[in-house]
Amino acid sequence: MSDIILSMRNVTKKYYGIKAIDSISLDIVRGEIHGIVGENGAGKSTLIKTVSGAISLTDGEIYFENELLKPESPVDAIKKGISVVYQEFNLLPNMAVYENVFFGMEIKKNGFLDRPAMREKSKLILEELGFDIDVNSKVKNLSPAYWQATEIAKSINHEVKLIIMDEPSAPLTEKEVDQLFNVVRKLNDNGITVIYISHKLNEIMELTDRISILRDGNLIKTVETKNTTEQELIKNMVGREINEIYPDKEYSDQEVILRCEGLTSDKVHNVSFEVRKGEIVGFGGLVGAGRTETMRLLFGADNKTSGKIFVENQEVNIKCPVEAIKNGIGLIPEDRKNQGLILNKSIYLNSLLPSLYDYTKYMFIDFKKSREDIKEYTDILKLKALNLEQICLNLSGGNQQKVVITKWLLKNCKILILDEPTRGIDVGTKQEIYQLIKDLALEGKAIIIISSEMPELIGLSHRILVMHEGNLTGELKGEQITQEAIMTLAAL
Ligand SMILES: Nc1ncnc2c1ncn2[C@@H]1O[C@H](COP(=O)(O)OP(=O)(O)OP(=O)(O)O)[C@@H](O)[C@H]1O
Ligand SMILES: [Mg+2]
Repeated sequence: MSDIILSMRNVTKKYYGIKAIDSISLDIVRGEIHGIVGENGAGKSTLIKTVSGAISLTDGEIYFENELLKPESPVDAIKKGISVVYQEFNLLPNMAVYENVFFGMEIKKNGFLDRPAMREKSKLILEELGFDIDVNSKVKNLSPAYWQATEIAKSINHEVKLIIMDEPSAPLTEKEVDQLFNVVRKLNDNGITVIYISHKLNEIMELTDRISILRDGNLIKTVETKNTTEQELIKNMVGREINEIYPDKEYSDQEVILRCEGLTSDKVHNVSFEVRKGEIVGFGGLVGAGRTETMRLLFGADNKTSGKIFVENQEVNIKCPVEAIKNGIGLIPEDRKNQGLILNKSIYLNSLLPSLYDYTKYMFIDFKKSREDIKEYTDILKLKALNLEQICLNLSGGNQQKVVITKWLLKNCKILILDEPTRGIDVGTKQEIYQLIKDLALEGKAIIIISSEMPELIGLSHRILVMHEGNLTGELKGEQITQEAIMTLAAL
């Protein structure tokens, strides 16, 4: 009998009578790295929130080290030995790194906070993990990799025995993912048990000892990583086989719809390119290469210092997103959490917002038509929600992203920019999104896509432009498009 650290027995969580997780029984073995996979809305985050004390159970019991676990709050859970690195930002943004690391267990001397000691110890823990961070920095000024590091340091400081990570790699660059893996392995070598949730199945295969697959709130099965394959995981997650994830590339030359000349800002240097109708143009490069910044200039989200933009051969003056939208340009942003949604409003309202005037006639909103159109996209994207009135706050992470995508699809832009469109999206839906992108292109829309997932970029794009340090370093077409060619240009 192996040593079980965490035992979930018939754990059920209902929201408004609907089971987000349905009688799940799962044992986590001490010392293992346990992966959890499942489609958007399958119940992964809910399951771990029941363990962390963020939500209460509707039914069932959880035992931690053979004792009934009833955490009253995440702070309480940490004190009991369990910490969670959440999908969403969970630190105190206005406090320094060391204050977060010591939150809830501050060191005191003569009744006062011993800041030097806390700084020193935080620094030590972070160095041990391989991070060189100024512990006095406010967390909000750090990149996602560093706030994650802070969260992990906090867990170590509290001497937790179980760390749960909910899609930790989603906001990270490739290099940072390597570093995260090193950290996870280091934690594990030190005897800490890890539960790791991710949509990136290659990570799950590389990192874990066992994997549990959830579907529609049920535990389908738990498998040994060495005895399974990505295909088997997908089949169990989605309930069907997915072989060809990318649609065929179809493209015949059409007229140029968008031309950028010499786009320049402090992070973007003299970038010129054109995109044709019906074309899917990928932007490759390492994270930080200036791709998102270039698109923000084009969209008017940031100010350019020089450069010209032409839409259908007419120069356009884009100084803010509203003007970009008027000229038929849409941008699905990378940072959807902060730029995408009004969380306490409904799916319907969020989706409709940019298109409100398009659906308004004689001061009346055409509710029926707008609802039908929104429904069409949410169906294609397999949005999992009770109905369009559900507020976005209650949707799973991936489903919130689908609302952002819906909102821009509804706007029916001539030129659509997608920045990391499938981050946090499950494999089945990815395939639907790829097909959708292809269909939009076939309708004559121009598509620009930024992705840090190389296979996605290669699988979709008719042409790839590569950037490095704010410069355009090359262009690849047809047969030239290979991973090596992109990497070479990305490092120029
Ligand atoms: N506060 C809430 N109120 C109502 N329903 C909720 C709430 N939180 C979650 N749900 C529902 O529970 C289900 C499971 O959501 P959960 O966040 O666990 O999914 P997930 O597997 O983490 O998905 P993702 O991969 O998108 O992060 C979803 O259908 C979601 O809409
Ligand atoms: Mg989730």
